[in-house]
Amino acid sequence: MTLTLMGEASHPGPVTAPLMLGNHAVNPPVVLAPMAGITNVAFRRLCREQGGGVYVCEMITTRALVERIPKTLKMIAFAEDEGFRSLQLYGVDPDVTAAAVRMVGERNLADHVDLNFGCPVPKVTRRGGGSALPWRRKLFGRIVRQAVQAAEAYGLPLTIKMRKGIDQDHLTYVEAGLTAQDAGVAAVALHARTAEQRYSGQADWDAIATLKQALDVPVLGNGDIWEGSDALRMVAHTGVDGVVVGRGCLGRPWLFADLEAAFTQGPDYQPVLPTLGEVAKIMSRHAQLLVEALEDERHGCADFRKHVAWYLKGFPVGGDLRRSLAMISSLAELDDLLGKLDPAVPFPVESLGQPRGRVNAPGKVSLPHGWLDSRDDDTVPEGAEMEDSGG
Ligand SMILES: Cc1cc2nc3c(=O)[nH]c(=O)nc-3n(C[C@H](O)[C@H](O)[C@H](O)COP(=O)(O)O)c2cc1C
Repeated sequence: MTLTLMGEASHPGPVTAPLMLGNHAVNPPVVLAPMAGITNVAFRRLCREQGGGVYVCEMITTRALVERIPKTLKMIAFAEDEGFRSLQLYGVDPDVTAAAVRMVGERNLADHVDLNFGCPVPKVTRRGGGSALPWRRKLFGRIVRQAVQAAEAYGLPLTIKMRKGIDQDHLTYVEAGLTAQDAGVAAVALHARTAEQRYSGQADWDAIATLKQALDVPVLGNGDIWEGSDALRMVAHTGVDGVVVGRGCLGRPWLFADLEAAFTQGPDYQPVLPTLGEVAKIMSRHAQLLVEALEDERHGCADFRKHVAWYLKGFPVGGDLRRSLAMISSLAELDDLLGKLDPAVPFPVESLGQPRGRVNAPGKVSLPHGWLDSRDDDTVPEGAEMEDSGG
């Protein structure tokens, strides 16, 4: 589909309108995408220090929350200076989801709740959860309505995040967006891929434009923003009210400085291009913050290992050193290895604009038996509520 849109421009300028989530103005209109295993309090701090926006916590499952699973309660950690605490919940049961939102309100756990309807993981869709759920339109509507009602009692803006649909023949995003709007959500975010696509191919920004044209509530666009300039292009192409940025910031928390610069200065902003020495300092700090957050040096260092390849992507660093860095078990070991890097090496500009993180192949979506044949069945799917959080 080719769309000619108002605002489409080859040289988009600065974007000055803040994104409104309820009464809260988000300026620049940037959201750190919730990423399980990544967007914990440590990573959010690194990103928040770079620029303005909303920084969403790791996903929490509603059942684990209402059952007060200690590991889950611990995951809801916000720093004292997190002004607008944003929490993503995953649920499949309207009553449990509403109870979880009430708990967030009662215990003042967050200032904003997002509901996840985008998870493509087979163990979730096979049971009818995540990105499979909006297909069951009545159930989806009940979940969102009850969640919004629960959130309203505490003045919490509630948003949803979804994909385009199950696959190209089973698209749900416009209908789901309208349902969510009727239910009273503060905004709708679209990751413009189907569940079948997982993270492959290119996000369909035309679909984001279609959703923006269909809704009155703010629409957030998500998918394939690797640089500040991509965010401006997405806004110009789709007219969205804000952008959600996931994989682009893996190993690059400074992307949020670029995004702020792009939104305030326009496309002539100067991108942040740290030298290898500056990257090493950020790596060391990231590991330190993880150790503090997890209150355990080994655990924090083990959690940091997955970030090493992202930070070093494109830099000329030998395989042995990379491998050793990805196996660290203490902060002293990390700093010792980082000391072996040549701090003067400039940023590898050829890696700008390149995909990072998951880019896995498409795959047929596992669904419960008969799922596609019964759109109006609103039975709560069994076993689709993960007990554990994340994933
Ligand atoms: C490691 C990882 C974990 C993710 N976890 C979640 C999650 O818990 N909830 C969610 O809504 N999306 C999750 N996502 C999807 C992202 O929020 C985002 O929608 C997706 O990566 C597309 O945006 P991007 O192209 O900017 O990366 C995850 C993505 C990645 C790569």
